[in-house]
Amino acid sequence: MLLRPRLLRHRSRKYQRPLFYTLLALFILDVWSILRSRGAAIRSSIASTAKPAGGLGEAASPSAHKHDYPTVFIVSVHRNTEKILRSSWNENLLRLVDHLGHDRVYVSAVESGSQDHTKEALLDLQAQLAARGVNYTINLGTTVWEQLDELFAWPEPNTPAAERPGWIWDSDEGHYALRRIPYLARVRNQAMAPLLAEAALQGGQGRRFDRVLWINDVAFDTEDVLTLLDTRGGHYAAACAMDFKEYPLYYDTFALRDADGDKAVSPHWPWFRSADARADVRAGRPVRVQSCWNGMVVFNALPFYDTSPVSDSPLKSGHTPQPLLFRGVDDSLAEYHLEGSECCLIHADNPHSRFSDVPTSSSGRRRQPVVNGDAETSKDIGVWLNPNVRVAYSAPVYRQVRAGGDGSGVFPGGFSAVYGTWVNRWQRALSSVQFVLEGQTVLNRLRRWRAETPAGEQPRNEPGAVCLINEMQIMWQNGWKHL
Ligand SMILES: *[C@@H]1O[C@H](CO)[C@@H](O)[C@H](O)[C@H]1NC(C)=O
Repeated sequence: MLLRPRLLRHRSRKYQRPLFYTLLALFILDVWSILRSRGAAIRSSIASTAKPAGGLGEAASPSAHKHDYPTVFIVSVHRNTEKILRSSWNENLLRLVDHLGHDRVYVSAVESGSQDHTKEALLDLQAQLAARGVNYTINLGTTVWEQLDELFAWPEPNTPAAERPGWIWDSDEGHYALRRIPYLARVRNQAMAPLLAEAALQGGQGRRFDRVLWINDVAFDTEDVLTLLDTRGGHYAAACAMDFKEYPLYYDTFALRDADGDKAVSPHWPWFRSADARADVRAGRPVRVQSCWNGMVVFNALPFYDTSPVSDSPLKSGHTPQPLLFRGVDDSLAEYHLEGSECCLIHADNPHSRFSDVPTSSSGRRRQPVVNGDAETSKDIGVWLNPNVRVAYSAPVYRQVRAGGDGSGVFPGGFSAVYGTWVNRWQRALSSVQFVLEGQTVLNRLRRWRAETPAGEQPRNEPGAVCLINEMQIMWQNGWKHL
């Protein structure tokens, strides 16, 4: 018995070197395959025609190809965005409308509560749009003082829920507080309002747009937008970019859910838990997701005019079709300490986002578009993340994510790719437990909320369950905070 461990030790030393070299070889092979797995970005070029699905459209004269572009309603909300507006945003937006065609776009921007000179920067933009004859609505909202007054207009304690929509009890402070998400949803709907107002002109025969393009306070260029518009040859309910605040870390985790409904496992490339999603990211293919926003997102505009139900939609029968709007979850659900981003709920509410699960023999679950009626329109379904469009919240980071980090144009740079892949593996291993626990907490509260529907009310239902997280967010001073 005593001899054995020594024998083992001796043996193990004998095997140490081969083991070391085997591991080293495997590691080198792994690094090599990770580096090779990064595809070059597939992007639409300004010089080619409007439909460069294969990347090789014929060059056409600018006036000819403009009419192949969809008409676009460009929309944004602003609060303390002066820096990016003045450094690049205004200029990039003007380049974009020059390229798409002045008579084929509409620009709608809403500002509120800024403490810097965002209002002045937007007025500069307005002057430039007017000079070009572009139609626009620029809505300079409340001052920071008016906004504070609004936040301090607490309803009395014991106000019935129906009389204080958007307010939630703050037990730390002993008064009601304004919920952040319904507030943001209201501002976004305000920015969307000119879309319907335009269509309502001329007795309802006014202009309608093909696409709704939301742009955050990011650095971007015309090619980014063209690439995004052309995601899947233009067939989508919505398509999003990727956004970055710091190279190479992905930023907007609040709204992103993969096709399985999971959040990104890590801010490092290739971000996802789903193997399908990771394969798509590496190949530069659009990634099927349930929800995303990411700095820039384009929607098929149809559901914002009216949501005529498609099969498999929650709006099927018994509901009057109505235009898609931004919203928060119900106050009664938020009281269970749950919140969901308005940028995720909009996809959950959009009947065109939906896919049905079609089981296939070999690979198990594989999501297919719902095919019903007109085959052409049923292709315009699903939410897609286009990994070839990378925008950033500052000019230096934008240059980095566009150049790929090491300047080769391949994203991300070599070190970030290897490091990110290993972080992804590690996080996936950890997240299996963590995601289940988190998901369980949310699900239990959702069940309790449903079960506790007051007598005589419609059964409680939240179609955006995938968006829910264990948070409570309120407006606070000139920003917001968690409760
Ligand atoms: C602006 O809107 C009006 C009303 O819809 C329309 O008649 C006009 O052609 C538009 N102008 C441009 C440049 O798009």
